[in-house]
Amino acid sequence: MKTKGIVIFGGTGDLAYRKLFPSLFNLFSLNQLEDGFKIVGVGRRGFTNNQYRDIIKDWVIKFSRVAHTEEKVELFLDMIHYYEMDMNDINMYDGLGEFLRKSKLNTDSLIYYYAVSPQLFAPITDGLKLSNLTNDAKVMIEKPFGETLELAEKLYFNLKTCFSDENIFHIDHYLGKEMIINIMTLRFSNAVFYGIWNKEFIESVEINAYEILGVDSRGGYYDKSGALADMIQNHLFQIMSIVAMEKPVDFSSASIKASQSEVFKSLKKINSRKIDERLVMGQYKGYLDEPKVSKNSKTETFVSMKLEIENERWNGVPFILRTGKKLERRESEVVINFKAIDDREKGNTLVIKIQPDEGVKFDFNIKKPGTENSIQEVSMDFCQSCILENRMNTPEAYERLIKACMDSDKSLFSMWDHIELSWKYINEIVSAYKKYSNKLFIYEQGSLGPAESL
Ligand code: BG6
Repeated sequence: MKTKGIVIFGGTGDLAYRKLFPSLFNLFSLNQLEDGFKIVGVGRRGFTNNQYRDIIKDWVIKFSRVAHTEEKVELFLDMIHYYEMDMNDINMYDGLGEFLRKSKLNTDSLIYYYAVSPQLFAPITDGLKLSNLTNDAKVMIEKPFGETLELAEKLYFNLKTCFSDENIFHIDHYLGKEMIINIMTLRFSNAVFYGIWNKEFIESVEINAYEILGVDSRGGYYDKSGALADMIQNHLFQIMSIVAMEKPVDFSSASIKASQSEVFKSLKKINSRKIDERLVMGQYKGYLDEPKVSKNSKTETFVSMKLEIENERWNGVPFILRTGKKLERRESEVVINFKAIDDREKGNTLVIKIQPDEGVKFDFNIKKPGTENSIQEVSMDFCQSCILENRMNTPEAYERLIKACMDSDKSLFSMWDHIELSWKYINEIVSAYKKYSNKLFIYEQGSLGPAESL
């Protein structure tokens, strides 16, 4: 059934304002929404429809990528409705059902978007179930999916009582980023890379996601989560699985997801006693003064982790994952370090730039001009985001994800078995760390993390 509407739980939250409404506006402007499509924002605040629409208008004008005319914006705002409720109270969902019926929204044609903190996932699911509002609806659910494996399992089994597997869409917004989707094309559509993407030729792989921002107003959530659960378990593991996976049989979403799953299954068990060789945790100076952060918090805001994948393709090749807040620069990238052919030269390097610049850089060796036998390293640098037309035509991650969910395309989503396997691995790491290390290195804001970083 075609998607005729979306109900956004957390309709007055930052994610809805900054990302979801501008993305929906883009889709609307590009005629990607069905006729009569409706958007229902659900929140606790006492807004009237008009007040809500006025707020959305400002965000859409500020953040949508597609050019807007006054007329387009007004047409878009007409699609939006606000529904006030306490999402924690499962007895309030009958009222929501009534509201949806009055708005002529058939639950079979809906997406429920959980843009709320994880504590609300279960009450929302229970409320929808109690009021019989799920039927064949789809659900898009934000990370973090659980704070531990046990909590993730609980959430998942609860969701499954309400929604069928094919209607559950686990969001990892990194999977909607242009250059992450592009990794597969780079790997599988270029003989030069396809043929050498293995342990014979690759020395190591680095996946970095550096941020300038700190935790800002999210101290309450972040202090419980930390960088391992906030960035590594999901975004960086997803990238790693795409970089490392075998070629999907037919590039259907099922075969892509299956190839990724194999990577998670092949993560090499760590030697707990040597955890310090595998994991470095850091915290930025001043983190303890952030609002809603515990004064003696041991939460990590920086992680560097070295892992290995045990299979024919990757045995012995280290994958180094790094992420942190309040660092010197915002930069996400995948760096493939190729082996040197002999010790006269440096190995080649391929850098896949994810953000803020999108592109591909390849460092290779040539003969230094005018010399007989000295070698010089040079670069080929393709900046995709520098081309204005490319930038205009590149959908936002959330725009892609909402469209993919409407089309029932799972290729851009994380799957339950990825979440489960990655939590299992993270759990092992965390228990080894607690038992044999517990080191937390304090680093300067504006640096590249602790000097001890792997
Ligand atoms: C979110 C994390 O999933 O990703 C945030 O919860 C992080 O802590 C953000 O800042 C980074 O996303 P992006 O798209 O800005 O790299």
